[in-house]
Amino acid sequence: MFEESAIQRGEKVFSEPLVLPKWPHCHRETEAKLIEVYRSLKWGMRGKYEQLLEKEFAAYHGTEYCVWMANGTTTLECALLALGIGAGDEVIIPGLTWIATGTAVLYTGATPVIVDIEPDTLCIDPERIEEAITPRTKAIIPVHLFSAVADMDRIAKIAEKYNLFVVEDCAHAHGAQWDGKGVGSLGDVGSFSFQMTKLMTAGEGGACTTSDKRLAERIFRLSHIGNSNFNPGTMPESDLLCRNYRFTEFQAAIIYDQLQYLGEEMEKRIANAGILEQGIKNTPGITVQNHGRKTTRPAIYFPTFLLKPEELRPGTSRKDIFKALEAEGMWLGEAWGCPMYKSLMWNIPEDKFVKMDTPVSEDAAYNRIMASSNTLYLCEPEQVKKAAEAIDKVMRNYAV
Ligand SMILES: Cc1ncc(COP(=O)(O)O)c(C=O)c1O
Repeated sequence: MFEESAIQRGEKVFSEPLVLPKWPHCHRETEAKLIEVYRSLKWGMRGKYEQLLEKEFAAYHGTEYCVWMANGTTTLECALLALGIGAGDEVIIPGLTWIATGTAVLYTGATPVIVDIEPDTLCIDPERIEEAITPRTKAIIPVHLFSAVADMDRIAKIAEKYNLFVVEDCAHAHGAQWDGKGVGSLGDVGSFSFQMTKLMTAGEGGACTTSDKRLAERIFRLSHIGNSNFNPGTMPESDLLCRNYRFTEFQAAIIYDQLQYLGEEMEKRIANAGILEQGIKNTPGITVQNHGRKTTRPAIYFPTFLLKPEELRPGTSRKDIFKALEAEGMWLGEAWGCPMYKSLMWNIPEDKFVKMDTPVSEDAAYNRIMASSNTLYLCEPEQVKKAAEAIDKVMRNYAV
């Protein structure tokens, strides 16, 4: 028999509950940069750090250009608008994502078409994309979700076949690579978020990456009330209704330093993911989110696991497992707990979007996802080993 779980008064794996590292990190040199920016009086309008980031963040992801803005919703909106998408058009998005992937489509006047995801990567299912294409379809937004990169090879093939644009939602995937290439360089435009929980953050912030100069120019004008980065003093094209979605130099200074640490942090996350994944390799009832078939460098925003109910005693719910894990001293949660179109914040009338059949998204969101925080893999390796032990112990207690 297996040892008694902590919930049955057995010994806890973590004698004291696991305390995750604080997030975000503060860096001494950033404090100095923030004072430097403050004293420079150049608080916005493309200061030194924003200009450096335009080059360095783009280069890190393998693109020529990068446009900084207020958040990762405005970036999706401007990417779509720059591609000429608007009323009457349809844009295909996955059933499991944050609502912003859908609301950004609605902001342009286009219709989001929600399709199902793959059961292992939790990213958009290319087969379901093809079924949803109509003469009105203009673009696909694959989301590189939690710790995976969507199947960009198959998506690119579909996009080519049907002449569609691809906007990658990279809100969870800073620094990730697919087949050796940076996310954000695999479609027409990449869209990144720098909101508080993200792998890089300035509290808020967003960036679009692209290697298409005309698109970079249109995205810049759209987010900078019509001003141009490349042709100052000239008027925007007449189809652009330009917004003020500008970024500040304080945000740029913070993110500039984070970019210098990103590689190191990614290595630590990947090494710790290896430890945890090895530790639960033979654990019944659970599997790890597939990082993507050709992902050569996962970003691992939320370490995500999936229940395998067929290997668990009938009637075992995710909540039972969460409770048992808590008794052992660690935490896993359900992430959003529902597909995007069931979010409390998705107040969109049903005639404003199209939802295809999405049983995999629903099963994953309601029953199977067990996710940790973005800092689990920044713990010390001994702690991560213990986390694997706790998961293994709990799952064995619920296994058939
Ligand atoms: C997948 C995804 N896309 C887009 C966004 C929007 O980013 P922001 O909050 O910066 O607007 C988020 C999250 O916050 C997200 O998780």
